Amino acid sequence: MSERPKPQRYASWTAGKLPLPELSEMKRRGEKIVMVTAYDAPSGRLADAAGVDLVLVGDSSGMVVHGRESTVAVSLDEIVFMTQWVTRGAKRPLVVADMPFGSYEVSDEQAVQNAVRLVKEGGADAVKLERGGTSVSRARAIVSAGVPVMGHVGLTPQTATVLGGFKAQGRTAERAGALVDEALALEAAGCFAVVLEAVPAQVARMVTEGLGVPTIGIGAGADCDGQVLVWHDMLGFYEGHAPRFVKRYADLGELITEALERFADDVRRSAFPEPQHTYAMPEDELAALEALRPSPRRR
Ligand code: KIV
Repeated sequence: MSERPKPQRYASWTAGKLPLPELSEMKRRGEKIVMVTAYDAPSGRLADAAGVDLVLVGDSSGMVVHGRESTVAVSLDEIVFMTQWVTRGAKRPLVVADMPFGSYEVSDEQAVQNAVRLVKEGGADAVKLERGGTSVSRARAIVSAGVPVMGHVGLTPQTATVLGGFKAQGRTAERAGALVDEALALEAAGCFAVVLEAVPAQVARMVTEGLGVPTIGIGAGADCDGQVLVWHDMLGFYEGHAPRFVKRYADLGELITEALERFADDVRRSAFPEPQHTYAMPEDELAALEALRPSPRRR
């Protein structure tokens, strides 16, 4: 008997996308998971071309793209727009949209409504929210509504003021124990992965060993199941303070400045545009035009 072809609608929807359960399989196999932030279609496309597994439309955009001092003022609309752009570029990676501050704090209902918006309007595959505490209940509600959720504990930039600033978390036995409990609670609520930001490597290892779902580290040592970096930090675009956990893989800021300086110099010396950058008119059409409208200089 010949194999029945898959219904086209289903086949095209899933084509090429990394299946979400594969992340836990990668953890089981000891294969590292790669995540990077992206905020527009070109960065989504480049992350996809580089074979990245997860693309995060992070509220770090508030600082690295929009020049704010923190992530707190980022709006849900901003994340929806950026997620639309990123999903046009990133096809294979799972696209995770950050739930910005204020979009899930009020109630489980508010959290579900806004998570659904990120999926329906933005095209996100999953959402991420910060902290344990009430966020555990929010995560459970969003997962029950059918939207995959990624947790985020340790340094949670949306509530950095409460934490005493942008600094490492979980450095005492008591705080580390609380952090492990938060991660376990988020897993129990149904999160498919948990980001660990700026926590001691030993604590991150303990969480990673204790969870069945993957941990994604940023400033959390080498034992996490995956790593994430912010696009502008790792590629050398961001002029603000870079945390010690950032590794710069390129200095695109310098490359771009140098290219712009050469452009400015060419324009000022009339060295750009050259003939190959210029459109020409057929000679006979030019003659006809000049007959109609003699050049003012020749009149
Ligand atoms: O917004 C963001 O980019 C993040 C990462 C630092 C994990 O939350």
